[in-house]
Amino acid sequence: MTGKLGILARFSLCLLLAFDLMSNTKAHSHFQRSSLTTRSDSQCQPFQSNLGPSSVSSDGSKDFVAISPSGSYSTSGSGLELYLKKPKGAITTKDGVNDKIGDGATINSTFTLRYGKVTIAMSGPAVSGVVTAAILIADQNDEIDVELVGGDPTHWQTNVYAPSPEDTQPLWGAFGEIEDYPNGGTLDEYHQYTIDWNAERIVWSVDSTDVRTLRKGGVWSALQGLFVNTRLHRCIDQTQKNGALHFPSHATRIQLGIWDASSPAGTAQWAKGPIDWTTAPSKMTANFKSIVVECPY
Ligand SMILES: *[C@@H]1O[C@H](CO)[C@@H](O)[C@H](O)[C@H]1NC(C)=O
Repeated sequence: MTGKLGILARFSLCLLLAFDLMSNTKAHSHFQRSSLTTRSDSQCQPFQSNLGPSSVSSDGSKDFVAISPSGSYSTSGSGLELYLKKPKGAITTKDGVNDKIGDGATINSTFTLRYGKVTIAMSGPAVSGVVTAAILIADQNDEIDVELVGGDPTHWQTNVYAPSPEDTQPLWGAFGEIEDYPNGGTLDEYHQYTIDWNAERIVWSVDSTDVRTLRKGGVWSALQGLFVNTRLHRCIDQTQKNGALHFPSHATRIQLGIWDASSPAGTAQWAKGPIDWTTAPSKMTANFKSIVVECPY
């Protein structure tokens, strides 16, 4: 859309959205009068860690449990390091994929949360095909993601995945978005990434600047497709697709990881891979300096 008509249409739709939000807020304040009901619906304990030496173990006795073998990570006074190691033997690249995938480290929190505000200070390697991730993930496969795609160091990515019984096919990538660093910088420097999640919406921010609000949705789905990648899209970003809602709603663990996205082809293409091991270091590191969980809901 161009010209005055476009501007008018955008303006009216954003206005409509504002009304929609106002009525939601009204409904919400109604809700808060019976606040016990809303509170028991969420599950969140305030938490803070500098990911030091006693924060991770392999037996589940600490705040974090290593899923990958010992040697795949280390903790120290300056935080947690997760490693991605070059596969052993010769690596062949063909049709945009590598025939061997390097082992990357993954850890889970041993506690879970349902709604809350999670802030993670982290950095990842700026190497094509390498992905550093901080995600909230549920046993039911709901996910809320922050991903540092090494081949695109001046951006970071947000995504959700929440399967619905009504889905006829997987919706990988349907809700992914590429974000800026509004205050500048790259993914291989430390930034504070925040996922602020309640029953109605998810807000992602970096270094305390909001970059994306994804609403649970419903009303705006038909319009959303028309305005992908426009400024209006930000007004109506929501999780209804083909009549089903895809808004994460189950208790999640915090999962931190670094992985080799050199296969299959679609994944490698998304990650700007595959990794070129002739130039990439044979051991790469993602750094995690702190995790804070706040519970405003
Ligand atoms: C890690 O988290 C996922 C998602 O909640 C869960 O399915 C998996 O069992 C967890 N693994 C460990 C070792 O905690």
